[in-house]
Amino acid sequence: MTTVPSYLKNKSNLSKNFFISTYGCQMNVNDSERMACLLEMAGWNPSPTVEMSDLILINSCSIREKPVHKVRSEIGRYKQLKQKKPYLKIGVAGCVAQQERSKLLKQIPLLDFVLGTDAIDELPQVLLQLEHGKKIASIKQEPKKPYHVQTLIGKPGISTFVNISKGCDNFCSFCVVPFTRGRERSRPLSQLIKDINSLVQRGVKEVTLLGQNVNSYRSPCGADFAKLLENLAIKTDIQRIRFTTSHPKDFNEELVETMQKYRSKIMDFIHLPVQSGNTNILKKMNRGYSREEYIEKANMILKKMPGSVLSTDLIVGFPGETEEAFEDSLSLLDEVPYESIFSFKYSARPFTKARSFNNQVPEQIKSQRLSKLQKKHEKIAFLLAKKYEKAFLEVLVEKKDKKTGLFMGRSTQNKLVYFKGKNTDIGKIMPIRIDKVNICTFYGEKYDKNYKKEKEMD
Ligand code: 5AD
Ligand code: SF4
Repeated sequence: MTTVPSYLKNKSNLSKNFFISTYGCQMNVNDSERMACLLEMAGWNPSPTVEMSDLILINSCSIREKPVHKVRSEIGRYKQLKQKKPYLKIGVAGCVAQQERSKLLKQIPLLDFVLGTDAIDELPQVLLQLEHGKKIASIKQEPKKPYHVQTLIGKPGISTFVNISKGCDNFCSFCVVPFTRGRERSRPLSQLIKDINSLVQRGVKEVTLLGQNVNSYRSPCGADFAKLLENLAIKTDIQRIRFTTSHPKDFNEELVETMQKYRSKIMDFIHLPVQSGNTNILKKMNRGYSREEYIEKANMILKKMPGSVLSTDLIVGFPGETEEAFEDSLSLLDEVPYESIFSFKYSARPFTKARSFNNQVPEQIKSQRLSKLQKKHEKIAFLLAKKYEKAFLEVLVEKKDKKTGLFMGRSTQNKLVYFKGKNTDIGKIMPIRIDKVNICTFYGEKYDKNYKKEKEMD
């Protein structure tokens, strides 16, 4: 028997349906999974539509502009629903919740509760406390200490996220994360081994290790990220390991050597955010490396792990970014063969240092620079993708795509690959010969382990 909050007792039925809307990064996707699992354990059911729900939870992101506005406008869309269903509860979790705290309850009258980034596990209790009709802001900021949680996922897919650390101590001058996610805390290595082995038992074939800065991971036993990867490769039965996000300053040779040594399990795709190609801007960003040091690191990775693939994040229009400084970001694309990039216009964030820097760049110039950068990269990415035509990629098959009816999976290099398959292919790693490339989405034909076409075997 699960407890039914009193505000739901006047409903015609006693079902408790929830709907979660998720913004932002993979960390938020993972947190939403955790909240869904906690809710299901407390007797709630995922709602097929937002209209049918009794609880709407918005897992918010504040990394870039107008985050409160986005939350407010989503909640505004539920005004009529809330009038029709007075027992409907609306909550905001995630980084906007942590940043705005109880202020958000005053700013948005339709809101019932606010759940901070360190208070996720309190969700079931908060829902019970709402019974008294009061509004609640549950915000905690855990101090720096080992971070003990077990991964909670209702029905894990073939590929699943696993948090290895949370928070960030880097304080890049543009970034709000250290203020919304707090100080960096790592999960113990032994707990991660157990956690991943139990996911394997539940059918998971691939994990993506998550952290704001995975390679500054440090287990309470002293193991660093390279040691964690090595232990997971040896002591778990997981077939594939990915991770995100890495910080270039912490990406050392030992880590690359470990990746190369266990390459059959650790995927050869590295997201290495550079943010700018100009040393002066990098200094103002507090990134801890120069353009030259970054290029040297990228070359070291590509040399020690031949065939590995790099991607990056770039910000245009950081305060003080001159035309010449921006040209340095453009020219970096000629120096480092990024197969994909994520690029953003700088957005001033609360609490951050860069917010008060002089020489903020006008929006119009930011937009022009962003489009120039993206156009340049599109051409490069297309040429880089050509090398995969006719190549065999080892693809872990994840699911059938409802739209196209094709099956899809990802190659070791993180390319999305579509092919004609069958349900029994799901969960297998199979060679796919690529026929058509489209920057990051590829189409191909499946072969068997001996690189023979499946048809020939029938
Ligand atoms: N403005 C623009 N982009 C930002 N990012 C982080 N903070 C900001 C900001 N204030 C980008 C960085 C980071 C990615 C997750 O988001 O490129 O790597
Ligand atoms: Fe933000 Fe920098 Fe930490 Fe990444 S490393 S989360 S950009 S402060």
